[in-house]
Amino acid sequence: MHWPQAGKPDSGEIWGNNTYRPNESPTFVETWKDMEKLLEGGKVKSIGVSNFSIKTLDVLLPQCTVVPVTNQVEMHPCLPQHDLKQYCESKGIILTAYSPLGQPTGTDQAISLFNIDTIKSIANKLNVDSAQVLLSWGVQRKTAVIPKTENKARMESNMTLLQLSDEDMKNIDELHLQPNMHRTLTFIGFGERILGEGNIFGWTYEELGWNMIDGFVVSK
Ligand SMILES: NC(=O)c1ccc[n+]([C@@H]2O[C@H](COP(=O)([O-])OP(=O)(O)OC[C@H]3O[C@@H](n4cnc5c(N)ncnc54)[C@H](OP(=O)(O)O)[C@@H]3O)[C@@H](O)[C@H]2O)c1
Repeated sequence: MHWPQAGKPDSGEIWGNNTYRPNESPTFVETWKDMEKLLEGGKVKSIGVSNFSIKTLDVLLPQCTVVPVTNQVEMHPCLPQHDLKQYCESKGIILTAYSPLGQPTGTDQAISLFNIDTIKSIANKLNVDSAQVLLSWGVQRKTAVIPKTENKARMESNMTLLQLSDEDMKNIDELHLQPNMHRTLTFIGFGERILGEGNIFGWTYEELGWNMIDGFVVSK
């Protein structure tokens, strides 16, 4: 389930605000119960969610017969989602990191992950590129990473991971604690520019359970 919000049938691929309200049918709990039925046919092997927070999972999980196999969320060193990771691990849900490179060419972010000193200096020390450091960190902390590239050489290097030292892992784990570093990279300005201030696809940050103010994420 791509998002907890359901898009209205006439909303097209880009929903904008054309979504049902949190308590309006189809709710994500109703959608999940229909997804569980898909497993009975044998063609669908596993089902999962995306963009769920602790808040929305707390509503969903008590209603589940099948626990989501994964929760796919934006995750990288500026948004390590330590609290969500701990929560999902306690429930047996694997976290999948989307935009694990911070969409370096996708949006005009204020911070490029590749240029963060901590990342650059580890990459230089190990003679690899910054993307390999970011992806190795994601895998080593037991999350699944799904970098996207249309370039064969980058695809190969993205699959060539390395073992980071405990010290390097700790430094990357903690870099989001530096001033202005803890933030979403992919949703900067998204709410204001496309969807109206303070919401994503028609739900407020609070309804989504995203502790976010102007692109800066408050929770750790
Ligand atoms: N569930 C959701 O709501 C959601 C939201 C966003 C994304 N996603 C999924 O997450 C996956 C990846 O996320 P993403 O595309 O947003 O972000 P990303 O993987 O962090 O960044 C992709 C960008 O990085 C570039 N890139 C890849 N490897 C590189 C390397 N080694 N060096 C330099 N640049 C590199 C790619 O350009 P080139 O192609 O030119 O290499 C591409 O522009 C996609 O499959 C996407 O569908 C899911």
